[in-house]
Parts: sequence; C-alpha cells; structure tokens
Amino acid sequence: MSNPEARVAIVTGGAKGIGRGCALELARTGLDVALIDLLEDELARTKGEIEALGRRCLTFTADVADFAPAQQIAADIVGQWGRIDVLFNNAGKANPKGLLEISEEEFDRTIDINLKSCFNYCRAVVPAMQAQGAGRIINMSSINAHSGGVTSAVSKFSYAAAKAGILGLTRSLAKELGPQIMVNAICPGLIKTETPNAVIKAREAELVTGIVLNRCGTPQDIAQLVKFLATSEPMFITGQDFIIDGFQWKL
Ligand SMILES: NC(=O)c1ccc[n+]([C@@H]2O[C@H](COP(=O)([O-])OP(=O)(O)OC[C@H]3O[C@@H](n4cnc5c(N)ncnc54)[C@H](O)[C@@H]3O)[C@@H](O)[C@H]2O)c1
Repeated sequence: MSNPEARVAIVTGGAKGIGRGCALELARTGLDVALIDLLEDELARTKGEIEALGRRCLTFTADVADFAPAQQIAADIVGQWGRIDVLFNNAGKANPKGLLEISEEEFDRTIDINLKSCFNYCRAVVPAMQAQGAGRIINMSSINAHSGGVTSAVSKFSYAAAKAGILGLTRSLAKELGPQIMVNAICPGLIKTETPNAVIKAREAELVTGIVLNRCGTPQDIAQLVKFLATSEPMFITGQDFIIDGFQWKL
C-alpha cells in the first residue's frame, strides 16, 4: 500500500462466512482487523483466530443498518489504532420474498442492511482516510445485481435492488473520493460458507452444472479478490465491480 505503515482494516459482518474468511486473509497479509457484527460468540471466535495469526483485532457488536454506531465505532478505531486503511462493507442479508409478499418494513430492512450500511460506514471512515491521504473501500454486491437473482429462492428483487444500488454508490463515491481513496465492488455468485444457504444445501449438484468452473465458490476465493483490491500496489482500479462466480452462465 502507498503508506508502508498502512495496516488497519474494518470488515463488517466479519464474524462468520465470507467476512470471516476475508478478515483472516487480511490478517495473514499483515493488517490489524476490526470486526463489526451482531453475533457475539462468532465475533469472539474470529477475534481469537486473528490474534492467533499475530495481528490485533477489535470487535464491535452493532447493527450495520444503524448510522450513529458506525460513526462511534470509526472514532473508537481511530482513537485506539490511529488510522483506517481499508473498509470492507461485507455485511448483508438476502430476502426471499417477492413483490406481493414483502411488507414495507421488510423491504426497508433489506435496503438498510445491504445498502444503507455502506453509506453508514463510508461516511464514518472517509474523514480518517482523507486525513491520511489514502484508503481503499470494497463494497459487497452480488451477481444478483446483474442477474436479478431469478433462479434463486433466497434472494429476490429487494436484495437485487439493494445490491445494484451498491454499484451506483461505488461508482459515484469513486469519483467523489478519488484519487486518494479507491472504491470498488465485488459481485460473488454462489459461495458456500460454513453455513451454506438453503438453496445450496438443497440443489448444489444441480447448480454446479451451471458454473463453468464446476463448483461453488468459497470464502477463500473471495478473500483473494478482496486482498488484491485492499492491498495491491500499485493499483489503477477504482469505481469498478468484479463478478467472481466461476462464470455462472445459467443465471
Ligand atoms: N454466500 C453467497 O452465495 C453470497 C453471494 C453473493 C453475495 N453475498 C453477500 O456476501 C455477504 C456475506 O454473506 P455470507 O454468505 O458470508 O453470509 P453469512 O450469513 O454467512 O454472514 C453474514 C455475516 O453478516 C452479519 N450480519 C448480517 N446482518 C447484519 C447486520 N444487520 N449488522 C451486523 N452484522 C450483520 C451476520 O451476523 C454474519 O456474521 C453478504 O452481503 C451477502 O449478501 C453472499
């Protein structure tokens, strides 16, 4: 990274799943990591794993949909560690309901967890990144932002809308915050975590026939891309979204 001392990352939703895998990879790369999640036991487990790698870890139990805690958490991290170099806005949740099933509250909640959370944490960390003159932001979108999630029973239009909104936010913030801060998004396809979603559990063999690389992705696959976008130097990439799906042609 441009500053050789740059080494603090925030991972939202970092207690388990893809976020945990990426947090561990960033720690292996030499970054200290702050995790934000709702799950206290899983946060403690991942913190232990990061510390076992010789890196420092802070954990915060908070709902990423809430604005005020994000600002406080960023202030705490800067207060304790003096800087924030990488923000991975990973936390998110699919919604399986269709247009005529979903309530207004459920629609708002899907937008808040997936999209507003990116605003909350970008707003919170950018002052520190600007003061440093550098920063990397990576926003978790989904292949559903492109495909609409039509074949998936776990993610319908509200999730696709939130994840597509993240692509607009990413491109726009890249313009607003560049050249010091680079902002990119990633769009995973089917990723099998330690608790795979119901669709992968029920239909993995069938789904894999629609993936050129013949398997579901893993958190480690995503972690390689996140590590690249978070730490590679030099980097001439901002405002982009990266589909990482093994080429899921049967959308
Ligand atoms: N798994 C996939 O196939 C896949 C594909 C594309 C995109 N994604 C996206 O990747 C991200 C991670 O997904 P995952 O599969 O690892 O899910 P997961 O459920 O295994 O992990 C998500 C983590 O985020 C946390 N989280 C959820 N809502 C939160 C909230 N409101 N506040 C704080 N923390 C919260 C959860 O507690 C959990 O630790 C999500 O944004 C998801 O939409 C996943």
